[in-house]
Order: sequence, then structure tokens, then C-alpha cells
Amino acid sequence: MHHIFKEGTNTKAPVLLLLHGTGGDENDLLPLAQMISPSSSVLSVRGNVSEGGMPRFFRRLAEGVFDEEDLVKRTKELAEFLDEAAANYGFDRRQIVAVGYSNGANIAASLLYHYEDILKGAILHHPMVPLRNVTLPSLKETPVFIGAGKQDPICRPEETEELATTLEAAGSNVALFWENAGHQLTKSEIEAASEWFRNNF
Ligand code: MLT
Repeated sequence: MHHIFKEGTNTKAPVLLLLHGTGGDENDLLPLAQMISPSSSVLSVRGNVSEGGMPRFFRRLAEGVFDEEDLVKRTKELAEFLDEAAANYGFDRRQIVAVGYSNGANIAASLLYHYEDILKGAILHHPMVPLRNVTLPSLKETPVFIGAGKQDPICRPEETEELATTLEAAGSNVALFWENAGHQLTKSEIEAASEWFRNNF
């Protein structure tokens, strides 16, 4: 997968896995990593799917309607890429914290839904429920921050609540941050995510 790896000044700090939104790329969330954990190594990945030239992490059939077969396949592809990247760059595979926005948050959530111990934690900005009717692995050791907008027309509040409840039922300690805004990422949401990261890692 296309990506950027930047080794951090503190190789003991969790590695931040950055996952952009639809139409973004591996450069988009680099400033976020600086705010969340400036000393961490960063692995920023570009989605392998193109929707009319816009990079994404998996296909969708319509806005908010996911191609579940492709989602499962791309989730596996990303999981395997994380193994490869850890081996190539010599970081600890068990120390990855995902930071995803929108489509990137959705594939990060899908990693959590499918694989035990795949992530040490996750910051999900404006995520949706990636899949339904699946049994999640234990997420007892995997805290999750969710940033959501009360007026988000894409990731509706009910869906945010459903995601949080599902992750909690799998044992995750979920922090839910509500912004009085829409789908966009706000400064206060990023600040809340940074504080959550400092408190958890
Ligand atoms: C998705 O397709 O993953 C969601 O609708 C969010 C987005 O617009 O990328």
C-alpha cells in the first residue's frame, strides 16, 4: 500500500496509524499526528480503492452503503500490510494506535471488528458502523475514542451510539466526544483526542 513512514523521537511511544477520509491521501492527517503524539512514529497509509479518482479504503455501493465483501477483503489487506510494515521498519506490531477520519475511521473500526489485538487503541473521527451481525473479538485491552458531530448527516448520532455500544459490549473502554457540528473535523475534537491519548498511553 502507498504510505509514509516517519520514525519518531520516542520509539517506545505507540506508532500512529493514520487513515484518511474519502478523497484524501497519506499526507492529510500528518498534522493530526503532530498534535496527538509528536514523538510517535507515524505510518500513514493511502487507501487502495479509487472512487472516480478519490482514494478510499474500501468500495461503497452508495453514500453510506458499504460493499461488505470488499470491506472484509480490504480490512484483511490492511491487517497484512501492518505486519509487513512492522517487520520492514522494525517497530512493535502490538503498539499501533489508529487515527482515522470518516472512511479511514470506518476501516479502523473494521480492523477492531475482525481481529483481536490488531490495535492497541483507536481514535475514530466521525466513524460509522462498519458491519452488522458479526461477533467482535475481545476489546478489553483496546480503548477507543470516538469524535462525532451532533449534526453529522453522514455519520448520524444514532449510528455513533450503536458503534459505541457495540465496542463497549466487546469490552472496550469507549470515550465518546460530541461536537455541536457536522461531518468536519474540529480543533476541539482533535484536542479532546490528544488529551484522551495522553491519558491512555
Ligand atoms: C464511507 O463511505 O466510509 C463513509 O460514507 C464516510 C465517507 O464519506 O467516506
